[in-house]
Amino acid sequence: MQRFENKVAFITGGTNGMGLATAKWFIREGGKVIVTGRSQKTVDNALKILGKNAQGFKADAANMNEIHQLRQRIATYTTHVNFLFLNAGYGKFSSIADADELHFDELFDLHVKGPFFTVQQLMPLMQKGDSIVFNTSFVTEFGISNFSVYSAAKAAVASFIKTFASELADKGIRVNGVSPGHIKTNIYSNTGLSDDAIEQTIESITPSIPFKRFGDADEIAKAVLFLASDDASYIHGTNLKVDAGISVVK
Ligand SMILES: NC(=O)c1ccc[n+]([C@@H]2O[C@H](COP(=O)([O-])OP(=O)(O)OC[C@H]3O[C@@H](n4cnc5c(N)ncnc54)[C@H](OP(=O)(O)O)[C@@H]3O)[C@@H](O)[C@H]2O)c1
Repeated sequence: MQRFENKVAFITGGTNGMGLATAKWFIREGGKVIVTGRSQKTVDNALKILGKNAQGFKADAANMNEIHQLRQRIATYTTHVNFLFLNAGYGKFSSIADADELHFDELFDLHVKGPFFTVQQLMPLMQKGDSIVFNTSFVTEFGISNFSVYSAAKAAVASFIKTFASELADKGIRVNGVSPGHIKTNIYSNTGLSDDAIEQTIESITPSIPFKRFGDADEIAKAVLFLASDDASYIHGTNLKVDAGISVVK
């Protein structure tokens, strides 16, 4: 018996990076997935990679109208979600002086408001034994210049892990989070940096990582799926660091 046989996962931002890796492993272990992404092209591409046990659709994780349509759209495929991964996101960075309201709202809509209302909308499809994982970030552990809004948004998500764990305990729905370190994904393509600047950024960051390498999306997926599985049946309200120790090693 595989860990996710007869189980359905809903993964926001399941078309690339950690979300796609999580979808792949969930399917490999017997489950079915529904993924969302920002464009039909990325959704189609992901579905080609994931194969027949995947479904997906374009849905903006920051848009309230689209969040309110999720239940209806998911109903085409399933009446039950066993595992919900709130993962969609990207980083954008600005000094305090340069940040405008658009920057603030964009990051809070995507990382805070979106996941909050996505859980609210999908909770009725979940029951005892099911679980939720939020994607936070190691950046909440430090003060990093130009990260004020992104880090605050991720800190709010880290707070949801605890408050949602409190509210959903009676329903038997486990709530946890994963806090990735530096992971090699598409995340830098949203920053507006050129390919060369991205390579330089990666090179300059690498020496600061205790393992002297970026993490792989699969290394996050495996931690997420541990939290999603019955192997984590007594784990609730935890934000699991998967960061090569960068948040604790000096
Ligand atoms: N990479 C890191 O070092 C790192 C570290 C800590 C935390 N994180 C967090 O990890 C999560 C996943 O990021 P990643 O590194 O795997 O990046 P990624 O490879 O760029 O994947 C991001 C995923 O989110 C989707 N997405 C972004 N904005 C969306 C929106 N408005 N609506 C719907 N889907 C949206 C993307 O869809 P498309 O494929 O359509 O673009 C993609 O599927 C994010 O929440 C990020 O903040 C990343």
